[in-house]
Amino acid sequence: PAPVAADGLTLTARRTAVDLGGGRTGSALTYNAGCPGPTIEVQSGSTPTITVTNGLDEPTTVHWHGLVVPTDVDGQPHEAFPAGTRRAYTLPVQQRASLNFYHPHPHLRTAAQVALGLQGALIVRDAEEAALGLPAGRFEVPLVIRDANIDKQGTLTYNGRASGFLGGVPLVNGVLNPYLRVDRAHYRFRVVNAANSRVFRLAFSDGRPMTLVGTDGGLLEHAVDLSEITLGNAERLDLVLDLRGLTAPVQLVDRDSGWTLLDLRPTQADVSQTAPVLGRQLSVVERLVGPAQPSRTFSFDGMTAINGVRYQMGATSFQVQRGQVERWRFVANGNPPHPVHIHGASFQLVGRTGGRGQLFPWEGGWKDTFLLLDKESVDILIRFDLVGRYLIHCHKLEHEDAGMMLDFEVV
Ligand code: C2O
Ligand code: CU
Ligand code: CU
Repeated sequence: PAPVAADGLTLTARRTAVDLGGGRTGSALTYNAGCPGPTIEVQSGSTPTITVTNGLDEPTTVHWHGLVVPTDVDGQPHEAFPAGTRRAYTLPVQQRASLNFYHPHPHLRTAAQVALGLQGALIVRDAEEAALGLPAGRFEVPLVIRDANIDKQGTLTYNGRASGFLGGVPLVNGVLNPYLRVDRAHYRFRVVNAANSRVFRLAFSDGRPMTLVGTDGGLLEHAVDLSEITLGNAERLDLVLDLRGLTAPVQLVDRDSGWTLLDLRPTQADVSQTAPVLGRQLSVVERLVGPAQPSRTFSFDGMTAINGVRYQMGATSFQVQRGQVERWRFVANGNPPHPVHIHGASFQLVGRTGGRGQLFPWEGGWKDTFLLLDKESVDILIRFDLVGRYLIHCHKLEHEDAGMMLDFEVV
């Protein structure tokens, strides 16, 4: 389905019937009867208002993961609103074109609400990106990839524990065993790992390259061809695929689970389309310049705390100065992987020691979430442009609900 405009949109969260594809129906928590909810589209520089209606039987809130917006519309746990009520979010969208990920964020209930179906993609558009002529319309395909447990009646179920949640089947855009009929053309896949805990190792079954043009915070400066990409929870990818020569089906797979995520079936139809020029500089990415030594270190050790402190709603752990570039260090000892996420700013990774010992192309550009494996130490540069209270947390949502989250204040 085509994306919907953000301004004036009402998102209704409630339990509905869902179509799981292949003639299977079921039931899930949905936004506007979809699991995922509608793909929302918004122009950079605009200030849409989205109203969320809570038709669940418990409090909820919507966090616009990837959007840098004021605290009161960031959808944080303390902003949850009760069942049967609604909340309007007016979102000043000032950032560059990017794929973002909206999902609930209520205290202690985030993991369950997301796993039971509440999630969706939000695309920001801008002129810099439009000028590139990347594949658009039906050639631009959001892929919301996750795992799920589904019972005999087709109901999504959830049995996560502090250690995590691994569903038994993949769901892509809410569909089991999905396929896409593809013409001989270029395609743009906008990928989000919407799983609570599962990390995907994406590749094509025939090893064909995926051209990475963007990450969490939008376009990279240069496209890079990759045969495999590790995607942590809530991380996003902007991929361009040249399918002009496709004669036989090819599958997007997860090399860790062995799952087929998406079957691409060629129609053999030639499409006249201007091929995107990816061999030149795609965009200008401001490079943050900051201190050589970290001013703060965050240790993700067990699964319930950061720096030994367990999240307490309303408690503020530290203060940061607005407008200053800081270097922050993240280290992990035990219970990996930890997909580290920060609200309120995008950041840049500058180094990884221990563990995998390097940064990867899909960690380039502006990021808001990155994967921290055991014994790794990762440095980032970050600058906050808005004052307010924001969060750092593990995006393995079971760790987050178990307390692996801190609240800080930008002043
Ligand atoms: Cu996508 Cu605070 O999370
Ligand atoms: Cu976020
Ligand atoms: Cu974690």
